[in-house]
Amino acid sequence: TRQQMWEEQQMGYAVTKANIDEIYLPESEKYDYVFDQEATIDFTNDSNDVLADSNEEEEESSEEEDEEKKMLLTQLESEATRIKNIGESRRLLPVYAYRSELMYAIKESQALIIVGETGSGKTTQLPQYLVEDGYTEGGKYQIAVTQPRRVAAMSVATRVSDEMNVVLGTEVGYSIRFDEKTTPGKTILKYMTDGMLLREVLTDPELSKYSCIMIDEAHERTLATDVLLGLLKNIMKQRKSLKLLISSATVNAKKFSVFFGDCPIFNVPGRRYPVDIHYTLQPEGNYINAAITTIFQIHTTQALKGDILLFLTGQEEIENTKEKIEEIASKLGSRIPQLLITPIFANLPQEQQANIFQKTPEKCRKVVLATNIAETSLTIDGIKYVIDPGFVKENSYIPSTGMTQLLTIPCSKASVDQRAGRAGRVGPGKCFRLFTKYSYENELEAMPRPEIVRTNLSNTVLLLLSLNVKDLLNFPFLDPPQISTLTKSLENLYILGALNSKGQITELGKMMCEFPCEPEFAKVLHSAATHPKAGGVLEQCLSIVSMFHETTSIFIGNKKEATSHIVSDISSDHLLYLKIYEDWVSSNYSRPWCQDHRIQYRTMLRVRNIRNQLNRCCVKLGLSTINASFNGDAQMGENVMIAKLTKSFISGFPLNIVKLTSGGYQTIGKSKGGLSVTIHPSSVIFQNQKEKGKKLEKFILYQQLMLTSKEFVRDCLPIPNNLWLTEMVPQVFDNVINDK
Ligand code: CDP
Ligand code: MG
Repeated sequence: TRQQMWEEQQMGYAVTKANIDEIYLPESEKYDYVFDQEATIDFTNDSNDVLADSNEEEEESSEEEDEEKKMLLTQLESEATRIKNIGESRRLLPVYAYRSELMYAIKESQALIIVGETGSGKTTQLPQYLVEDGYTEGGKYQIAVTQPRRVAAMSVATRVSDEMNVVLGTEVGYSIRFDEKTTPGKTILKYMTDGMLLREVLTDPELSKYSCIMIDEAHERTLATDVLLGLLKNIMKQRKSLKLLISSATVNAKKFSVFFGDCPIFNVPGRRYPVDIHYTLQPEGNYINAAITTIFQIHTTQALKGDILLFLTGQEEIENTKEKIEEIASKLGSRIPQLLITPIFANLPQEQQANIFQKTPEKCRKVVLATNIAETSLTIDGIKYVIDPGFVKENSYIPSTGMTQLLTIPCSKASVDQRAGRAGRVGPGKCFRLFTKYSYENELEAMPRPEIVRTNLSNTVLLLLSLNVKDLLNFPFLDPPQISTLTKSLENLYILGALNSKGQITELGKMMCEFPCEPEFAKVLHSAATHPKAGGVLEQCLSIVSMFHETTSIFIGNKKEATSHIVSDISSDHLLYLKIYEDWVSSNYSRPWCQDHRIQYRTMLRVRNIRNQLNRCCVKLGLSTINASFNGDAQMGENVMIAKLTKSFISGFPLNIVKLTSGGYQTIGKSKGGLSVTIHPSSVIFQNQKEKGKKLEKFILYQQLMLTSKEFVRDCLPIPNNLWLTEMVPQVFDNVINDK
């Protein structure tokens, strides 16, 4: 099948990064597509083509005389033009025409579902209308707009602050984990991740500071959105004046409406141009290569006006693909027009976000490499070609083993249709699907599965319990989670000590809720500060835990290359991250140090910020004081420190442990027969064992499990002493250790 073929290919990528030197010249390996006349989506085109060239910029004239005054004037003028342009382009958006009807519908109903084409102005305009119509009551209330993704929250807030002509973080702000740009008492419009609003329910169970809440992109059905909708259903009964807007793609609208007592659905007719759909004749084994070839095919055969959007599955894939395209482009040199490659993914560093919306320079074609985020959350103007391999990365939780795998799976039909539509926003477009028409018609699922039915629910269960939701089975879920997943979550929380044997939340559990990180990491910090056998290493664990929140973008280029000089005397990825952080601190947070060590300076600044916040939380909860009492008079030795640190991680991640058997490493699922896993080549442990011949440890703790054709574990910590397992988590390990 397509999935298997892809997995086989992926192996090669993960392990060797082979093929990197191959060049895919468009002439050498052309793709034949079938053009599907019937499937051409003929979207309505109900407006005159006004948007297409509305954003021409004013040219400045430059004469010599009285320069300063003139410059000032020009600045003022261009500022005035800018504001005027913004005002104009706001009025051109489809929602504008329905403004009064919309506002009336909102007034008449406590909950309203809003359906509209991507780019019609739902996210940026509706909240402004609410502000303009006085829903904030002169600053008494705020308006919250949730987004499933961080980048979307930030970039939309930036855009809207621009439109409202205010400084970002004043009247308009955003709030995402570890990064809040708002001013208490001043911010009236707040874009935030759905997860952040969920956390706010903990401190303000009725969300009383908001007069309106817009749950945007609700069709994405993230876990946080689903839980919020359930909570809001109850909150709305308490607070009759609270307005709830839910924006959704067409496919899900009815379901939301039914959930909120058949509330009205408001349809904003959009504008879309026809998009021709093309399919490959055969299934593609290696969709990356196929996509790259297609890019060059388009670039060399189609007129230059019209940018390309390629959907990939994740940051790593995007970065590797970018590298490859740039390499080929540089080999082709001046034989082809210039390509501008812009990546977009959920954790894209802020400094790169502005590039997304940058206008494509003259004589150049923009190629946007995006994850699912560009499917509906972000609209990039100027896209004419969409290349869709038809894959998406999805979490998948298996309650029986307690493991979460990140799987790359074929997208749903709803997704690929949505993706194709991205090509038809500014004019007629083309979509190249790197799969067959047969596959589209017969193999794809109709809709994606909501996150709640495929994810670990420990966080959610802990949150609901701390909100006093005792009867989880009767909580109003849009789609109820599997009972086995709920049971497993309760069990996990019990193992972590967040619940007692009666299933009630403990003091430790309440503490875990206070941390802006997963309960597992909170437990690590708690043990590192307070456990009789592990206490005293809070500082070290804070550094490591903070680094884990940013691991994907710490290194410039390849992790292995970047760290080869430090790896020799380091036994685990955890210690590697600790060393990097501590060395950076010793360098006085220096930028040149980062450059010398091929570390991303900006990422390190974020790690420092995360660490500060986690640290503040530890101080507030009194953990820091207890930690200090362990350190007494003597400095602890390196080995003692490593032992304590390892124990702390065992206490937080007792189920993320693999055991060496005659057939290699296996997970220690409770049920018989674990899963065989391989240490990922990027791990320090892999390098130590394969390249330096160090002996294999019997037990290894991992932070991440990846599934391609093999199961890889990533970010590994060896456990040199079995007794530490039973010492820290006897409930789990008494059996495992004794079992031969
Ligand atoms: O939410 P919806 O998809 O309906 O549309 P929107 O995000 O409100 O976008 C409306 C317009 O604002 C589009 O033309 C976007 O291209 C533009 N926009 C932008 O230029 N920069 C952003 N950061 C967000 C939106
Ligand atoms: Mg939107």
